[in-house]
Amino acid sequence: MQKISVKGGKTLKGTVEISGSKNATLPVMTAALLAESPSVIHNVPYLNDIKTMAQVLHTLGSTACLEDHRLHIDPKGFNKFEAPYELVKTMRASIYSLGACLARLGEAKVSLPGGCAIGARPIDLHLKGVEQLGAKVTIEHGYIHAKATKLKGSTIYLAGPHGPSVGATVNVLMAATAAEGTTVIESASTEPEVVDLVNFLKAMGAHIEGGGTARLVIEGQKTLKGIDYSVIPDRVEAGTFMVAAAITRGDVLLKKAEAAHMTAVSDKLRQIGVTVEESTEGIRVKGGGSYKPSDVWILPYPGFPTDMQAQIMALLAVVPGVSVITETIWENRFMHVFELNRMGAEINIDRSHAVVKGVPKLTGAPVMASDLRASAALILAGLVAEGETLVQRIYHLDRGYEKIEQKLSALGADIQRTN
Ligand code: UD1
Repeated sequence: MQKISVKGGKTLKGTVEISGSKNATLPVMTAALLAESPSVIHNVPYLNDIKTMAQVLHTLGSTACLEDHRLHIDPKGFNKFEAPYELVKTMRASIYSLGACLARLGEAKVSLPGGCAIGARPIDLHLKGVEQLGAKVTIEHGYIHAKATKLKGSTIYLAGPHGPSVGATVNVLMAATAAEGTTVIESASTEPEVVDLVNFLKAMGAHIEGGGTARLVIEGQKTLKGIDYSVIPDRVEAGTFMVAAAITRGDVLLKKAEAAHMTAVSDKLRQIGVTVEESTEGIRVKGGGSYKPSDVWILPYPGFPTDMQAQIMALLAVVPGVSVITETIWENRFMHVFELNRMGAEINIDRSHAVVKGVPKLTGAPVMASDLRASAALILAGLVAEGETLVQRIYHLDRGYEKIEQKLSALGADIQRTN
């Protein structure tokens, strides 16, 4: 099994180019099935999750071919409606096939996702949404089976106990493009990845108003055509490199990063004492000087993103003083705490709060990644830890970070992948 070895103590300097967003590409890939003609998606990152979604598209009868960061999707053969357990268990976003299959084929059979390392992964809002559009949903033998002879527009309130849902908004949005009449999604997700999907669907010919607000209005049954489209830069990858520059007290320019999507992360880093400058070239992050502790509330966009919680924790672990991180989205997303503590961090968990007492130094250790963003946090901690950190279970990392060790190494990190 592969591992990543990081030897701490190097100051990162230079320029890094941010890849296209994984979480924007995945819904756009399924939405390409709604058109009658092929689409080409540009700026697509080479990641295992993208390959898994391409497999989902193949299973549904269409073709998806990635070449030089361009993904060619031809929906011509799209005539199957089952996303099997083998794919959904590898990647939960496979559930986006629910909305696409209902919209184009009137039927969808998708394996239930189940829980994962970051907590329960309910899908009640996805089901509520498609049911309100007229689909009959049954759950049998671990599969969701949804059927609709005709989808009908409706007003749907989509918030759950933790606020809006990205995935449910994506599914309902796609199904609503085929529904007769008007659909209103109240409490829709406003995350940039959902806005990117709205822009993609609009460019294909869909009538949608309110992208980026909590109220989406969709006029259904428009004919959609395939298009060329470029997805937004990955804001989680950008945030991870911003923390890498901060934690090593380096000076890094992030080319292609979208500053407008990074305000919560930039603001938090500035509060801590890091210099963050925005320019037409991208975002420049300069670390150094004395850092101050800071409390972090994890909230839906435009709040501080849950997908950056583990990374900011790695930084705060070495900032003198006490910081409290409150996770309001995924109840179990603190698995990285135990591994950071094995590296010398002093972090205590009290229900949804992590109390981080900054330590003067971390020491390298063999550590185990529990999920995608936790893996990134362990690498960040390794960049400043004394000696070697050996991160295991890096298959999580390959789901969501394109060439992370090459990119960090080009900035001066002592990092390599080992077998
Ligand atoms: C997406 C992202 C993930 C990110 C998350 C929150 C992708 C592929 N994944 O996941 O990286 O961490 O947004 O920003 O884009 N919920 C319900 N019922 C539902 C659905 C969700 O209660 O039917 C709850 C969840 O338990 C969670 C919250 O809503 O507490 C947000 O989940 P959601 O936005 O749906 O996350 P995902 O779309 O799965």
